[in-house]
Amino acid sequence: MDIEALLHPTDTRPAAKALVEAAMTAGYAPSIHNSRPWRWRVTGTTLDLHLVRGRILHASDPDGRLATLSCGAALHHARVAMAAHGWEITVTRMLQGADRDLLARLHVHHGAPADPAAAALLSMIPLRHTDRRAVAGTRVGPEALVAITAAVEAQGTRLHVLRSDQVLDLAAAADRALLSAAADPAWEAELTYWTGLAPPNTAGIPAAAIAGRNLGQRGDPPVTVRHDTAAVFVMLHGSADEPLNWLRAGEALSAGWLTAGGQGVSVLPHSAPIETIATRQAMRAMIAGDGHPYLLLRLGIADPADAGAPRIPTDQIIERY
Ligand SMILES: Cc1cc2nc3c(=O)[nH]c(=O)nc-3n(C[C@H](O)[C@H](O)[C@H](O)COP(=O)(O)O)c2cc1C
Repeated sequence: MDIEALLHPTDTRPAAKALVEAAMTAGYAPSIHNSRPWRWRVTGTTLDLHLVRGRILHASDPDGRLATLSCGAALHHARVAMAAHGWEITVTRMLQGADRDLLARLHVHHGAPADPAAAALLSMIPLRHTDRRAVAGTRVGPEALVAITAAVEAQGTRLHVLRSDQVLDLAAAADRALLSAAADPAWEAELTYWTGLAPPNTAGIPAAAIAGRNLGQRGDPPVTVRHDTAAVFVMLHGSADEPLNWLRAGEALSAGWLTAGGQGVSVLPHSAPIETIATRQAMRAMIAGDGHPYLLLRLGIADPADAGAPRIPTDQIIERY
């Protein structure tokens, strides 16, 4: 679908066109089980981001934490596109008194000089993907880790690098949690649904992307320390455990992931440990109770040959008004 088809026929404003382009760029964002739980609404020079409750994974993500985090990643992708194309915008998150599923509103003010740092991130968006293969060999260097941490923290979320003893503890706790979750038929059915969508479906995770890799199947440890000998595990965390924090964590995830791509570093989120209270508490203890954990990430040295997941068609995620 082209941009003109998504614009109101009488709307020739470049700002409106830029917003539609930004929403299309956001379609590349990572999301839990590739569920794409967002919908964009373009009204003149305003772009609204809505959470789609029907796409929340109700068994494994009953609070919508990971769905909101996914929407945050889409929001950051849209912000990057606007900045890279030279538009000054304001972003209002969790609008007071508005529909609770209206997560953010982007409003264009005027043209501005294109932001070269945003342009560099924009060029990474189509290249970014989830790399589930084992990490061995070279370890992520300190410079890359500093750059990724700075990108995350610039979005108001903190990043903690796990010590090796913490990785082992978390692997054990997460393995126990996953085994009990996998005993729940609703949890198992949800995972089977999202990983079993065959082409021409454009949501869900294609079998080819997960063959031989760990996605939290029964009996697989979600943190694969035995294979990931050179991996660095990091945790996104912040001051509170509310939808606004999850949205900001998603923006930080996108910023950190795109920055990682530029540094030749691959990223694999591990959501299983955040899905159960016991492992969330174990993660919280690792940051000495300093705030709340949002997501565990595995960092490794990237292989540019790995392919990503398919995308939902644009007309299913953007509405014009
Ligand atoms: C909040 C969140 C949690 C995720 N958790 C996992 C996970 O536990 N295991 C996994 O293999 N991928 C996980 N992913 C990656 C998604 O499966 C991936 O983004 C989606 O399938 C689209 O593929 P792509 O990232 O290659 O574009 C997660 C992504 C997000 C945004």
